[in-house]
Amino acid sequence: MNQHFQHDVLVIGSGAAGLTLALTLPSELSIAVLSKGDLANGSTYWAQGGVAAVLDDTDTVQSHVEDTLNAGAGLCREDAVRFTVEHSREAIQWLIDQGVPFTRDENTSPDDAGFEFHLTREGGHSHRRIIHAADATGAAIFNTLLAKAKQRPNIELLEQRVAVDVITERRLGLDGDRCLGAYVLNRTSGQVDTYQARFVVLACGGAAKVYLYTSNPDGACGDGIAMAWRAGCRVGNLEFNQFHPTCLYHPQAKSFLITEALRGEGALLKLPNGERFMPRFDPRAELAPRDIVARAIDHEMKRLGVDCVYLDISHKPADFIKSHFPTVYERCLTFGIDITRQPIPVVPAAHYTCGGVVVDQHGRTDVPGLYAIGETSFTGLHGANRMASNSLLECFVYGRSAAADIVAQLPQVSMPGDLPGWDASQVTDSDEDVIIAHNWDELRRFMWDYVGIVRTDKRLLRARHRARLLLHEIDEFYSNYKVSRDLIELRNLAQVAYLMIRSAQKRKESRGLHYSLDYPELLPEATDTILSPH
Ligand code: FAD
Ligand code: SIN
Repeated sequence: MNQHFQHDVLVIGSGAAGLTLALTLPSELSIAVLSKGDLANGSTYWAQGGVAAVLDDTDTVQSHVEDTLNAGAGLCREDAVRFTVEHSREAIQWLIDQGVPFTRDENTSPDDAGFEFHLTREGGHSHRRIIHAADATGAAIFNTLLAKAKQRPNIELLEQRVAVDVITERRLGLDGDRCLGAYVLNRTSGQVDTYQARFVVLACGGAAKVYLYTSNPDGACGDGIAMAWRAGCRVGNLEFNQFHPTCLYHPQAKSFLITEALRGEGALLKLPNGERFMPRFDPRAELAPRDIVARAIDHEMKRLGVDCVYLDISHKPADFIKSHFPTVYERCLTFGIDITRQPIPVVPAAHYTCGGVVVDQHGRTDVPGLYAIGETSFTGLHGANRMASNSLLECFVYGRSAAADIVAQLPQVSMPGDLPGWDASQVTDSDEDVIIAHNWDELRRFMWDYVGIVRTDKRLLRARHRARLLLHEIDEFYSNYKVSRDLIELRNLAQVAYLMIRSAQKRKESRGLHYSLDYPELLPEATDTILSPH
């Protein structure tokens, strides 16, 4: 039996962005936080390196702003960058107040005037400004915020709930555009329930799962971007897919990241013969922004016909490595690699979706009552290439500013009236799930081959034809059969892949993460790629 629920705020996503927003809202509001798997299944839990912020007295807002603009290759919106960086210190203070156990600096005593937490470095940053919890920062943040949320009786944390689509006045054929709630598959009952809400927040993470090889967990399917698009929102800069330069290369290691903080603490990239290569590509060598390092690795792998390159930190003392990078050390050891003595085999893998749903400084989308925050959103902060550790920062800053905006709007927004339930009268159980598995594999492979680190017009055209065919096939399947998590995700992945390809085709230059052999030059004017569903 389909159920109907009512909440003041429906938050779709239980990662850094969703939990921050839920915890920042007043405790009188009823809030539902949904996760399509268990609550920890987003990328947040897996974040390693840390959160970038201006925390040290020797660092400045201006320096963090400039580094972000440089990494973003001329495409960041300066107001978004400034807004984010100016709010970075208070966002970190909020996390510290929640109890996040950041790593302390062994060299400062509590009596020192200096900052008491250890700050590390990553690519593109001209200062040490990454606050972290060893090399498992995401887990430390997630566990702390989740524990806080569990103490709040007004926050309902709901697992195994997959949002299918948001409900808008337009979808129901009513006058107006407002978002009224969402249809949500309960994976335990198998029913699609109706969630009515005064405000709906998409905090669904990114879409890196569109690629065959990725550092992301399985749920990173672009659900928030696809739902927003179908609801009538614009999307921006979806051609900028960030490939992390260093994921562990091992047949049994599924998507394990080797944090950039290793390079921040002196690790060197080497070819199979032990030769360093990054100084040939950029004066910042291993600490150049990610697009440059990933492209250099890709270039060297293709030039030499090798399967991977190597990241070597073995010249550092073993105790230092084990205490700063316990997760990476332990994980590599399980594959027989002792990083205190051996170099680590690494390859680039899809890591971060720089574009997303177009939002303003409060996370407001084009649809009234619908917000997007975190990796789902396009705020203008990252430009053509996100700088390391600016992503979690964006989740906290925009999670908090969206919460403040919802509070300001509350007096004018009442609970929507009764909404129609999900209509499953025309669909049956699928007897051909093989189509889902096949299309899923095909999509991720052609995206990897044709829309990867280096692109051409021909490859993009091939990808577009295939994506369009898949979209039709999946739509037909969706109209005839009952929804499942796999089908919902595949439908969203195909939609987002298609938008990524269209965006890539529109950019007739090479900028940041979008590199085309047909247009190797940078155009004098930097413009965003904005697609509109209308
Ligand atoms: P996520 O944490 O991905 O959470 C998404 C949530 O949405 C999940 O709860 C999921 O279940 C839910 N969801 C999605 N779709 C639906 C649906 N249809 N219905 C219901 N629920 C849904 N960034 C940094 O700044 N610093 C780092 O050190 C860092 N390290 C990283 C390491 C790894 C391995 C990875 C993968 C990423 C890393 N990043 C890092 C990026 C950063 O972790 C993410 O961008 C960030 O955590 C995204 O947070 P989020 O809240 O937007 O989404
Ligand atoms: C890492 O630890 O290398 C990931 C940092 C990030 O994605 O910002």
